[in-house]
Amino acid sequence: MNAPLIDPFGRHVSYLRVSVTDRCDMRCVYCMAEDMVFLPKPEVLTLEELSRLCGAFIKLGTRRMRVTGGEPLVRRGIEDFLHELGSWLGRPDGQPGLDEVTITTNGSQLQRFASILRKAGVTRVNVSLDTLDADRFRAITRLGRLERTLEGIEAARSEGLGVRVNMVAMRDTNEDEIDAMVAWCGQVGADLCLIETMPMGDTGEDRTDRYLPLSLVRARLERRWTLQDIPYRTGGPARYVHVAETGRRLGFITPMTHNFCESCNRVRLSCTGTLYMCLGQDDAADLRRPLRAGVSDLELMGEIREAITRKPKGHDFLIDRENTKGVARHMSTTGG
Ligand code: GTP
Ligand code: 5AD
Ligand code: SF4
Repeated sequence: MNAPLIDPFGRHVSYLRVSVTDRCDMRCVYCMAEDMVFLPKPEVLTLEELSRLCGAFIKLGTRRMRVTGGEPLVRRGIEDFLHELGSWLGRPDGQPGLDEVTITTNGSQLQRFASILRKAGVTRVNVSLDTLDADRFRAITRLGRLERTLEGIEAARSEGLGVRVNMVAMRDTNEDEIDAMVAWCGQVGADLCLIETMPMGDTGEDRTDRYLPLSLVRARLERRWTLQDIPYRTGGPARYVHVAETGRRLGFITPMTHNFCESCNRVRLSCTGTLYMCLGQDDAADLRRPLRAGVSDLELMGEIREAITRKPKGHDFLIDRENTKGVARHMSTTGG
């Protein structure tokens, strides 16, 4: 058995987010620019190459994988890739293997993929949905159609998949819909997770105007809903409460108002084979070069180990009237 991946701050890295494409059929205002230029094909790893890298991570103790994009379900061949990842589930104790394979999606292709996901061993999905109003949905996603995502969520629920709706909470954009979203998620049997917007990449939109601290949102929600802190954790940054009136969980992801970096367990692999050690920093390792140079699995694992020794302590995102601090790469490079 290989020694686990431990970073310089004593954090065990056991969770990998794998971005399978930088492309997306939407252009959400907080994520992409309207005129995004996508990567040339030769720079993008094949799904076989990505699978090989995933295998190396699993042998180094990765237990959870989240497939992201761009929009992961627009990548051709994704079905086989998911099956390949799924084949690592349910391995005997003490052997390399995965406890969970999950996906974060905008839901546009979910109706078609729900049963494929379930058959691959995925048990829960996170679906981005910031509004229940069709015109707003179009304004926020620039290209998306609300009914496709709603149909996708319904298909996922019918297939027995757990659904968590991800809602990026934005001032003057969808903040007036948060109560309605809590109620709607209760009706459709989904959890909800509110997210503070993070300053990543130039999207052509003003971050300062849209930024909404979730401490404020929670205080407002408490006027209408009975919220009780619960210890439920997924290994991710969300902190959850139980909503008594709906019986569902409500999560808060608060990178701006409450940092969670001290318990970070994750790194992220882009579709070009670049390993980013932190969402909010530029530190990265190029795994495509050794991979394409034909190195052995052992050498590949050595490259990953070396990269983990450079994992930074945390992000230093800041959104403030006078000063905003983020990173130049877009969220879509790693899918969060
Ligand atoms: P779970 O496995 O369900 O806990 O998922 P998750 O919340 O980790 O993943 P998801 O893809 O749904 O991401 C939700 C939001 O959390 C996105 O805005 C991500 O960018 C953000 N997020 C996920 N991991 C990190 C992290 O390590 N640091 C920061 N700052 N944000 C993160
Ligand atoms: N800040 C916070 N969350 C974001 N997401 C995309 N861009 C941002 C951002 N700038 C969310 C999406 C999706 C998840 C992967 O990240 O809504 O649910
Ligand atoms: Fe981890 Fe970086 Fe996210 Fe912090 S910002 S939780 S260190 S990936």
